[in-house]
Amino acid sequence: MHKRIIRKLIDDLKWRYATKKFSDKRVSSEDLDKVIEAINLSASSIGIQPYRLFVIDSPSLKKELGENSFNSQIVESSHLLVFAAFDSIKEGTIDKYLQRVAKERETPAEQLADFKNKISSFLLAQTDNDNFIWSTKQAYIGLGTGLIAAANLKIDATPMEGFDAEKFDEILKLKEKGLKSVVLLALGYRDEENDWNSKLKKVRLPIQEFATIIN
Ligand SMILES: Cc1cc2nc3c(=O)[nH]c(=O)nc-3n(C[C@H](O)[C@H](O)[C@H](O)COP(=O)(O)O)c2cc1C
Repeated sequence: MHKRIIRKLIDDLKWRYATKKFSDKRVSSEDLDKVIEAINLSASSIGIQPYRLFVIDSPSLKKELGENSFNSQIVESSHLLVFAAFDSIKEGTIDKYLQRVAKERETPAEQLADFKNKISSFLLAQTDNDNFIWSTKQAYIGLGTGLIAAANLKIDATPMEGFDAEKFDEILKLKEKGLKSVVLLALGYRDEENDWNSKLKKVRLPIQEFATIIN
């Protein structure tokens, strides 16, 4: 059973590729919810999830965001996922997280005091920019999960860094929310005939070169 699941996962990962041209077919809301749930289940350092996800369905908004971009997938995708990282970490950010932990685990806040001190001494000592970079790394873990979840559902996807982050931040009013857009994930279904990338062989290192096993 487990062997079959991992075989399917490897097959899904071989099947997926960075889609350059999407068809008009739409991702169902049921499948979309699963991808979002998978991303939300991603690991993050300390568990604080220092990023938020914006799911753009509106064709006019996708058009506005994708104008003048070489990545036509922004406009042509069924749904565009925008990963937006915290631009800083404040004491209130940590408090909010710990309140959630306390509530979910029914733990008195006093019991989390040590944890709070540890997190605070690490995060609040860093500059806002360091914490933004740290938050961005967490967002990329979510991006990876989203790619895998999409492939598992046979939804095509493109991870994208090629976009005007400042423009996205302005249109989506992210600054007001203490966020900055960092990476995108376009979802949809490949237009196999018109996508030059759809039939190209996947290029990866031989495993022996990629991974070193140290006994
Ligand atoms: C963080 C990241 C950013 C990327 N940015 C873009 C992009 O802006 N536009 C694009 O078409 N592909 C983009 N890609 C896709 C990569 O070029 C692609 O994943 C890589 O060539 C490996 O090919 P494969 O994903 O088809 O296996 C990006 C991939 C990653 C992981």
